[in-house]
Amino acid sequence: MAVLICGGAGYIGSHAVRALREQGREVVVLDSLRTGHRQSLPADVPFVEGDMRDPAVLDAIFARHTVESVLHFAASSLVGESMQLPLQYFSNNVHGMQVLLEAMVRHGVERIVFSSSAAVYGEPDSVPITEEAPLRPGNPYGESKRIMESMMRWAAAAHGLRYVSLRYFNVGGAAADGSIGEDHRPESHLIPLILQVPLGRRPHITIFGDDYDTPDGTCIRDYVGVEDLIEAHTLALRHLEAGGQSDVFNLGSEQGFSVRQMIETARRVTGRPLPVVVGARRPGDPARLVASSRKAGDVLGWQPRQGVDEIIASAWRWHSRHPAGYKK
Ligand code: UFG
Repeated sequence: MAVLICGGAGYIGSHAVRALREQGREVVVLDSLRTGHRQSLPADVPFVEGDMRDPAVLDAIFARHTVESVLHFAASSLVGESMQLPLQYFSNNVHGMQVLLEAMVRHGVERIVFSSSAAVYGEPDSVPITEEAPLRPGNPYGESKRIMESMMRWAAAAHGLRYVSLRYFNVGGAAADGSIGEDHRPESHLIPLILQVPLGRRPHITIFGDDYDTPDGTCIRDYVGVEDLIEAHTLALRHLEAGGQSDVFNLGSEQGFSVRQMIETARRVTGRPLPVVVGARRPGDPARLVASSRKAGDVLGWQPRQGVDEIIASAWRWHSRHPAGYKK
């Protein structure tokens, strides 16, 4: 019995592949390698390079492997890009989900754990954000995740699937041993961008606005370590395997850190100078996003362990050993 990991060669998916194999589970990975990296995976993992929107690709996997559950990480995930290319986001994300759910129904696969996002909430009325907060995504990326959640809900009602949707806040860090980590091209996320400065790959970090209504004027986010995040996926799988009902959970630490605090932490962790330039606000950035993760604690028994020091330290181990990321 295998777990199909869609998007398993990506940043978060590759950490899931490793964790599930460490638990002795059989996995099969599907990834288009448009943004994923084959080198992030063990050489011997069953791997299919292909596009999830092609039903024949999924049929071949389900015919060859006895798949009991799906972890779905395969999606385009850049907010800014989604504003430029909304239809590409709906094709890749929404249509991809449709084809996946249809294949699951065809092959009698009944469990799915899905990577959703805090982006489904948009600008919150208050923090911490609970799962009951209104869903008002402010960009096509968040909208696509909101629709993908709805598709699972309706497919569950009609076809007896069960799902867990995990709404990630800001994921960071790397495997504790620094062997796999984050490698987006071009890089777009705060922690790897900050660490490019002490690596000598960028002269300074630009803060996108310091005139927000926050204590130091910079945006506040809730950072969760990738290994903690993956633990929530394995708990979600067990929840579904034990007959638990479909549900939606926020994954964050319930603690907010400002951009300036993250830069200061990186200075401390790396012990290197980190010049800062204050730039303009990035359109669409909410001032403050902090999760309530109480529900994930109560229902799944999930407790994130890593604080921002450990998250940045693990990211630093990965980036300093692989300054140019994965070899192409
Ligand atoms: N930031 C900077 N300078 C940079 C890069 C980022 O100041 O060079 C700031 C951003 O303005 C933001 C914070 O650092 O305030 C974090 O930015 P990221 O791009 O790392 O992350 P986001 O909070 O924008 O995005 C995250 C996820 C998305 C998800 C979104 C939900 O990465 O997938 O949260 O709103 F959609």
